[in-house]
Parts: sequence; C-alpha cells; structure tokens
Amino acid sequence: MGGPVIIAVDGPAASGKGTLARRLAAELGYAYLDTGLLYRAVGLALLNSGRDPADETAATAAATAFDAASADYSDPALRAEETGKAAGTVAAFPLVRAALVEVQRQFAANPPGDKLGAVMDGRDIGTVICPDATHKFFIEAEIEERARRRVKELQGRGNAVIPAQVLQEMKERDERDRNRAVAPLAPAADASVVNTTNLNADATFALAMSLIR
Ligand code: DC
Repeated sequence: MGGPVIIAVDGPAASGKGTLARRLAAELGYAYLDTGLLYRAVGLALLNSGRDPADETAATAAATAFDAASADYSDPALRAEETGKAAGTVAAFPLVRAALVEVQRQFAANPPGDKLGAVMDGRDIGTVICPDATHKFFIEAEIEERARRRVKELQGRGNAVIPAQVLQEMKERDERDRNRAVAPLAPAADASVVNTTNLNADATFALAMSLIR
C-alpha cells in the first residue's frame, strides 16, 4: 500500500530532535532532511550579500531564488549562530515559508535514493508540511538544559561562548518560533510529545523506536 513512511520530528533548538531524527533515519534506512538548513541557507544568502534578514522583500526574493537541489549543505557557515538567528528571522515571513513548502513535501513524497521512508526534522512538519505523516514526534526539553547542550556543542566546535548569552539568544529564538503568525512551533494534536530534559540520546531513541513499532 501507499507511499513512503514519513516520520515528522519537530521541536525547538537543542531539544535533541536532530540527533533523534538522524538516528531514526540510519536505523530504518530512510532518507533524512534537516529542514532548518533550508531556512539557514536563505538567511546566509542574505548575510553574504549584505542584506538585512529582517527585510521581508529581500528575504522573500532570496527564498524564491533558492535552489535546494544545488545548495552546498556542507558549508560550515550554515551552522553558525548568526546564521541560525537570520534563519529564525526569515522563517517568520509567510512568503519565505511558502517558497520552501514544496521542496520539503517533494522530499517526503519521493525520498532520495529510492528509500522507503523519510525522516523530516523541523518545526512545522507534523502541523503544516506533512500533516498526514505516519509518525509524529514533538521533542522538547527545558530551556536551561537546551542552552547547556548548545554551549557544549559550540565549545566542542572550538568556539568561545558566554553561557548566559546562549541562554538569552535561545529564549529570543524560541519566542520568535512559537509566536510567529504562520506555522508557529507547536506540537501537532496527534504528535507524541517527548521531554528529553532527563533523557539521554539513547533513551530518547529507544522510546521513539518503541512508539514507531
Ligand atoms: O533547527 P535550526 O536551528 O536549524 O533552525 C533555524 C531556524 O529556522 C529556527 O529559528 C526556526 C526556523 N525553522 C523553521 O521555522 N521551520 C523549520 N521547519 C525549520 C527551521
């Protein structure tokens, strides 16, 4: 029967959703899409051309011009905090989101490499992009714990960080993601909500696998 299996993994930054989504994809042999990279690529294109990510007209033009198939997702600049901030800003614009809907739905409907399923990592996969996903997870954790994880991750990449600043920026990003008018970050009514504050990556993975099976 039917099309590919679609697993939606939504949640805020540093909740553990990326780690879980990648691991589910590896275990199940499904394709994996980090949809945050699409918004990051649009934000980075603006920064690189000296435009303000808060400029809605420029952001919409950049999203419309964005070619997901030829983008270089290995560019380390995509992972920078400044790019994440720009991504959060452009992601609030309805026409930016609209420009990126189809590429995400195409990936889910036709997972690359003839895979039998897709694991989609994002903010609005279960609510907007793939409301009919086979399995939906909403991964969350207390903000102090998420900020601690982000500090560790940044330090691991050799960055000098001020923990209080990381926490403050995470609060601001959460605020924007949860309160924007279009596709705000929120669990789908039929999502399994998993709080990872006291769960490590192995326990989160085991729980998700048991829910899938
Ligand atoms: O997950 P991330 O840190 O790469 O996301 C960067 C920003 O992009 C974040 O502020 C929220 C936004 N985003 C979104 O609005 N919808 C998605 N599906 C993925 C990311």
